[in-house]
Amino acid sequence: MMDERVRDDRALLVVDGLKKHFPIHTGILRRTTGMVYALDGVSFTVERGETFGVVGESGSGKTTLARCIVGLIEPTDGKIVFESAATQKNDVSRRVQMVFQDPYSSLNPRMRVGSIVSEPMFIHRIGTKADRATRAAELLVRVGLRPEHARRFPHEFSGGERQRIGIARALSLDPKLMICDEPVSALDVSVQAQVLNLLKDLQIQSGFTCLLIAHNLSVVEYAADRIMVMYLGKVCEIADSRSLYGEPLHPYTEALLSSIPKIHPRSRRKRFVLPGVPPDPSRPPGGCRFHTRCPYAVDRCRTVEPSLLAREDRPGRFVACHRADELSLTGYVE
Ligand SMILES: Nc1ncnc2c1ncn2[C@@H]1O[C@H](COP(=O)(O)OP(=O)(O)O)[C@@H](O)[C@H]1O
Ligand code: SF4
Ligand SMILES: [Mg+2]
Repeated sequence: MMDERVRDDRALLVVDGLKKHFPIHTGILRRTTGMVYALDGVSFTVERGETFGVVGESGSGKTTLARCIVGLIEPTDGKIVFESAATQKNDVSRRVQMVFQDPYSSLNPRMRVGSIVSEPMFIHRIGTKADRATRAAELLVRVGLRPEHARRFPHEFSGGERQRIGIARALSLDPKLMICDEPVSALDVSVQAQVLNLLKDLQIQSGFTCLLIAHNLSVVEYAADRIMVMYLGKVCEIADSRSLYGEPLHPYTEALLSSIPKIHPRSRRKRFVLPGVPPDPSRPPGGCRFHTRCPYAVDRCRTVEPSLLAREDRPGRFVACHRADELSLTGYVE
């Protein structure tokens, strides 16, 4: 299956059976007493030019996934193929860039904005100092700031402006893949749309592929072409956005859709709130990981883990639920 997907030249990124388990150390001897199963067999493909949304509650493994793809951490198992199997690590670190969740902690407070934006070029020894300064000024303009902002420090900017600086830095090496890890969740609601629109405009201009991570479905709604829903280190469902919103196949997707705030106050949309919080990923429930919160769970769900399967009758759709064929779930209704 893997080889088939790699040969597909539309694929920019192929992730296959990815696992990342973090050891838990306790006591003075720091003995390993358990594991956090942050990613536990995640497979998907990102096509060139698309925006691929990754959605799941906090703790589902989204940031760990992003950090594995950019090479900040080593996976425990599985494969990540960027462009082709022959692509070197150095190419990946140049061609895959990340925009971080928190624009307050991700920018070095002691560096001037110009140096922050040009640092990736400096690390990869691109251009002269003057070239890099010119490019940094251009990048600041592209993200809606001014060239003279290069001389200032991060604390002189608002959250939204800081995220623009983070985006300028990520753009500086002209990446093929931009991984945006909850790029607006630390920002005021009033500036969230501006930053998302900026990302969309930049993507149209530069043609990069985008992996957009969010903890709920309202952020990715209009930005993503396809969406992957994650729960406790597993993939629940992958679908194009329209199908996912209109006809979810996984009960967790239905729950996420029902929790999107209503636009029309008289909407008759059924709304159920998921009971409880996600279980501890160091003690994931057996069988289907969602069974402790799933309103449709049956006996089999508690013992047998559902695999992520392609739906023959719905091209391009994948779902991991024993009852996916028999359930008729509610999509997003305004
Ligand atoms: N470096 C680490 N060491 C131990 N556990 C970690 C580490 N990084 C993340 N985790 C754990 O892995 C799980 C997934 O975390 P994360 O990938 O940050 O999820 P998300 O971004 O979806 O909120 C969480 O339970 C988190 O506590
Ligand atoms: S496999 Fe069972 S518990 Fe899991 S989502 Fe489907 S119905 Fe719910
Ligand atoms: Mg995260």
